[in-house]
Amino acid sequence: MPMIQRRKRRPLWPVIIASVLLVAIAVVYGGGAIFGVGPNLSRSEWPTQFQSNGERIYFTSQSASGLPISFRSGGMHMAMRAGGCVACHGVDRQGGRLMPRFWLAAPPLTPAALFGGQDGNGQDGHGDHAEYNAETLRRAITEGVDPGGKSLNPEMPRWSMAEQDLTDLIGFLRTPVRALHPSPR
Ligand code: HEC
Repeated sequence: MPMIQRRKRRPLWPVIIASVLLVAIAVVYGGGAIFGVGPNLSRSEWPTQFQSNGERIYFTSQSASGLPISFRSGGMHMAMRAGGCVACHGVDRQGGRLMPRFWLAAPPLTPAALFGGQDGNGQDGHGDHAEYNAETLRRAITEGVDPGGKSLNPEMPRWSMAEQDLTDLIGFLRTPVRALHPSPR
């Protein structure tokens, strides 16, 4: 027995329309909150000085040598915000979802995530690829394939840079993530 009896049944459709609208708004504007946050892009947390050429390339996609660094692909996200690896993999190298295409995520590029002794079957929380080494990382960055030979999503740009710059960049990816120093304003 219902405790409250309504005299008249209210039509349901305004409620349905309102719910659909609310969900749509939440997905468009709150995508980050609902589906996990995007990469940390906060410019105030950039290093005030780059400690290495590799770090410089990660943040700016410019080499200290002045040699050109270019990329193919990278999709819509790259078209929207040109920049270095930081644009998708974040200041803290933790990665994040690519807004507005929140269904795509850039993975973390920390030493643990890349070189942490992965099992290659997705049971270790590092995704489904095996541990990287200098050679496979080189291929991932320039050709967009993971250690298992699987093609990475085209949202990951395919990079061209001088051998030395690539070596410096990979050297940087082997270093622990630096404590972020928010610059005083
Ligand atoms: C426009 C966004 C974007 C930029 C900029 C970008 N990446 Fe990525 N990257 C991605 C995405 C998305 C993936 C995941 C692809 C997939 O899962 O298929 C990825 C994957 C990777 C992977 C594979 C990681 C893994 O777990 O297998 C490496 C390594 C990588 N990126 C390195 C870099 C480096 C180094 C740079 C800068 C030179 C860079 N990325 C710049 C979007 C980006």
